[in-house]
Amino acid sequence: MKEELYKKAVTVLENNWKDSFSIPCANLYPFQWKWDSGFIAIGFAHFDMPKAQKEIETLLDAQWENGFIPHIIFHTDNDSYFPGPNFHRSDLHPLSSKKYKSTGMTQPPVIGFVLEDMYKISKEKNESLKYIETVIDKVFFNHQYFYSKRDPQNEGLVYIYHNWESGTDNSPIWDDIWATMNPPEYTFERRDTTHVDASERPSKREYDHYLHIIEIAKEHNYSDEKIAELSPFLVQDPLFNAMLIKSNESLINLYTLIGGNADKIEQLEKWQQKGKASFNAKLYDEEIGAYIHYDLRNEKPLRFLSSSSFAPLFANIPSQEKAAKMVDVMMDKFGGEDQYLCASFDPTSDRFNPKKYWRGPVWINLNWLLFYGLKNYGFNDISNRVKKDSIEMIEKNGFFEYFDSRKEIHTDGKAGYGGNHFSWSAALLIDMLNN
Ligand code: DGY
Repeated sequence: MKEELYKKAVTVLENNWKDSFSIPCANLYPFQWKWDSGFIAIGFAHFDMPKAQKEIETLLDAQWENGFIPHIIFHTDNDSYFPGPNFHRSDLHPLSSKKYKSTGMTQPPVIGFVLEDMYKISKEKNESLKYIETVIDKVFFNHQYFYSKRDPQNEGLVYIYHNWESGTDNSPIWDDIWATMNPPEYTFERRDTTHVDASERPSKREYDHYLHIIEIAKEHNYSDEKIAELSPFLVQDPLFNAMLIKSNESLINLYTLIGGNADKIEQLEKWQQKGKASFNAKLYDEEIGAYIHYDLRNEKPLRFLSSSSFAPLFANIPSQEKAAKMVDVMMDKFGGEDQYLCASFDPTSDRFNPKKYWRGPVWINLNWLLFYGLKNYGFNDISNRVKKDSIEMIEKNGFFEYFDSRKEIHTDGKAGYGGNHFSWSAALLIDMLNN
């Protein structure tokens, strides 16, 4: 165990804790983000379970009356971030939280499996299960929202209507969708590029697209039906859907431990059956040898390899045979000796950029999913390399938000990009060091 590094990681989490929730990092992300909160809770669970529990409780307290959980909860006024609460206007939706301002979009549904991880990490199983009993129905309600509102063709696969919902915000995958849109040139003041170098962040034109999708949703008060009908961005994302399927599985396991709840377990099993079948039929690309995104608005597959392509390993979605093929593809394209695993986008593509946000750099949360996903299928050596690479990048550079995938760049401690003292890099390192 790397004691010094572990202690530093604990300090990062303690400094980003704000009484009842955590921020991803100061200045750049000064509020509570949904999937960040989930990963952060897993880190806290190893040394401060009450904070882990509070983190999730606060997030779920911001749930809307229709089961929706927003991607950012604006707990405080803070003008270091754009676009803030006055741009997003969650109050436009009739069922939005009356207590918290938020965005009107969501992020990958990680909370189900986070709760199961917290239970597994806990040394007080009874106490842990009692806590889970107080929150689990909210997570089930959230899954109900997804399947009833975001699956217009009843496939067991849900859509996202904004690139910020994917978590992989400016992935080159979205370039194909931007090519179908022509948003106005908005006038606004970016804040992100006052905190980090513009070469590491999305472009102005990309932000025009991001804002435009939100403007369309706002015109219709964030109505799910209208968004499904009108949003120029409507995508079935393999990472997002894998998180939902893994969380379904965890809810089944947790409800089984709690006892009773036969109706909910039965419903979850139905979602699982249909979801996994459609996932393999629709999102697996034989020729590429991995999972891809599907553009539901324009009814066409988006045939690109990214770290999201391998996330289904985490949710036990591929067969062993498919998994073996995926790992070959991953090692061939992403796993060269000169590369850290795992770049966020295909390093052999001309859209690859190892410095720019989600267009190439390595992210610790995707590595964490891969670490466990590879273990699921018995690829222990590669799984351990993912862990070793993650530790090495953090040791050499600090707890950055993302890292250059090219090993040759990691010589002077400046190959970490975006926000520093970044919570989920610390939290998931703590978890990997414990495993
Ligand atoms: C940002 O502002 O880039 C956020 O990641 C959106 O979630």
